[in-house]
Amino acid sequence: MRDQFLIEGLGNRQTLRGSIPVRGSKNGVLPVMAASLLFKHPLRCLNVPDIEDINRMSELLFGLGAPVEKIREREYRIHGNKASLSKLETSIAKRFRASIILTGPLLARFGKVTFPFPGGCVIGKRPIDLFLEGFKKMGASVTERNEQFTLTVPKKLVGADIFFKIQSVTATETFLLAAVLAKGVTTLRNVALEPEVTSLAEFLSKSGVKIKGIGTSTLSIEGGGLLSSLEGYTTIPDRIETGSFLILGALTSNDLTITSCNPESVRALIETLKECGVLIEERARSIHIRGWKGNTEKSPKDISIRTHEYPGFPTDLQAPFVVFLTQMWGEGVVFETIFEGRLGYTEDLKQMGASITLWDAQRALVKGKTVLKGMEVNGPDIRAGLAFIIAAIVAKGRSVINNVYYVDRGYERLENRLRDIGVSITRINGETGEQY
Ligand code: EPU
Repeated sequence: MRDQFLIEGLGNRQTLRGSIPVRGSKNGVLPVMAASLLFKHPLRCLNVPDIEDINRMSELLFGLGAPVEKIREREYRIHGNKASLSKLETSIAKRFRASIILTGPLLARFGKVTFPFPGGCVIGKRPIDLFLEGFKKMGASVTERNEQFTLTVPKKLVGADIFFKIQSVTATETFLLAAVLAKGVTTLRNVALEPEVTSLAEFLSKSGVKIKGIGTSTLSIEGGGLLSSLEGYTTIPDRIETGSFLILGALTSNDLTITSCNPESVRALIETLKECGVLIEERARSIHIRGWKGNTEKSPKDISIRTHEYPGFPTDLQAPFVVFLTQMWGEGVVFETIFEGRLGYTEDLKQMGASITLWDAQRALVKGKTVLKGMEVNGPDIRAGLAFIIAAIVAKGRSVINNVYYVDRGYERLENRLRDIGVSITRINGETGEQY
């Protein structure tokens, strides 16, 4: 729990090289684990990353009576068909936002679900109004007592026409799953288009659900019975890991290959980095970085990004990109449009030497190039945690990153993969000082 990373910074040297593999997508496989509750038989999941959020989801499923069996490295068999309870364990559900996705299949299958306000990274208010309103439209009644929500339906959820006033990834996934066993057709409008949503819809379709409109902003799902899939689900590559490695490569290498990834899923970032002069070659399942050229004190760049729903610039890459901007000659303007509290980490980056001015809670001006100095920082959430790791690698001197648990929530044994490309990084137990 108290692990720390000790990182010796490169201090501006472009010495990382080799190849770094991308693991399966956390946010891709978590909804599929929830979908296991809709299957007639145990569900096989492949390319599952070995991360803390998967362990938390496994614990929640276990608490519902649905054990998760690890078959071998990155392969699980989920006995969602055995679930018999519909109350989410509060202490676990409060630790990650994706726990709320379970409400859809649980309500569809058992006509009742009890859950706490979901936890997760503190990056904004993250309300659940879209969920409560959508479930009401499908015939559920909602009660709230002692910080627990209970949803009940008299018989079965009924198909409804739901317009999401905001595109929401987990709300789209939750209602896709709820609709599978509902009576009649459910139409979801203004849905999220993130690859994790599309991957879930495609998997449900292959498993027998009649879905129209996959890949568009309106999905229409015909309710039916329990599902079946012989081959199971193979997790798509993690696009946020891909993008973060791209940024790391741009800052530290003239020869780095990111493997097992889908370049198309990080199109917005690739185009932005190319605009900044980063030399990138794309192949079908890998990306090769050949350095960053042409950006000097005499030819500065000005770049502005605004985070956006897919296929726009992902909010989850905003923090790593700000680290990139600290190393760019010129001015970068960043507008975080998705979450209202996602620039808090910039205070620590400023302590490291970055020149960042917050115009307001969602807009920042980053002036570069600055020399970052190694120091002790606390990773505040999964994505900013990795941004600090990138900053520490780029910096001069030694850094200590606390709260490694956040990084472990989303990235599988990152230090091993980073070491393989030349990063000096050690995991230490913050209490005993033991290295491992
Ligand atoms: N929103 C509402 N009401 C709701 C639900 C969402 O107002 O009922 C708002 C949110 O506050 C936010 C916006 O809608 O302003 C979009 O949020 P969304 O619901 O899409 O986010 P999420 O589903 O909670 C997922 C990812 C996040 C990622 C966002 C945006 C999962 C488990 N989480 O969150 O990933 O940042 O989409 O792409 O899929 C992470 O993995 O570290 C992470 C934070």
